[in-house]
Amino acid sequence: MNFSKSLIQWYLLNKRDLPWRNTTDPYLIWLSEIMLQQTRVAQGLPYFLRFTEAFPTVFDLAEAEEEQVLKLWQGLGYYSRARNLHQTAQKIASDYQGQFPQSYSELLQLKGIGDYTAAAIASFAYNESVPVVDGNVYRVLARYFEVETDIASSDAKKEFTALARELLPKGEANVFNQAIMEFGAMQCVPKNPDCNHCIFNDSCAALQKKKVAALPVKSKK
Ligand code: ADE
Repeated sequence: MNFSKSLIQWYLLNKRDLPWRNTTDPYLIWLSEIMLQQTRVAQGLPYFLRFTEAFPTVFDLAEAEEEQVLKLWQGLGYYSRARNLHQTAQKIASDYQGQFPQSYSELLQLKGIGDYTAAAIASFAYNESVPVVDGNVYRVLARYFEVETDIASSDAKKEFTALARELLPKGEANVFNQAIMEFGAMQCVPKNPDCNHCIFNDSCAALQKKKVAALPVKSKK
């Protein structure tokens, strides 16, 4: 079985049950992705639950007082994320009748939504064929395919994005993107991954060449 199919099969058997995975509501997916930037799932999950209870729809968030939004954000840090979130919710409520833009390129126009977040929303909510590329994805691809590009370099994003795009199975961007991120978070972890118990222990280039600890390459800037 090829890399992408194997990864999806692994994911379906091993994934964590997380609330933003049981929905295709772009609002909930957007919230989760903004919250999880620079924040671990275990830390972000209770915030996500409190936040969505207080603001179940984009209209509820749009109408909230900024003070209440920031209060529910307290402890997550990077408060500009919360302010952008609130402003963008107001824009979606007023200019888009509460309907999120339905494509990657339109999502990118919104404040606080960059490549990563636009790709996550477009693929998870709409199954659009766009790759998501975060630190987990860099690590999995660098190791499996022995990509030695410095992930701190300006070429890296382009190169890893192109590789991830080639690997996307037709019609399965949603599950593939979730799968590669989850695999990086759970199995192909930065330090001391348990390669003996990895589904790719007969095909991972880094493992075969004893370069798991050396990949991905990341220079100090
Ligand atoms: N970290 C960032 N986005 C995530 C997601 N969708 N699921 C799990 N962890 C994540």
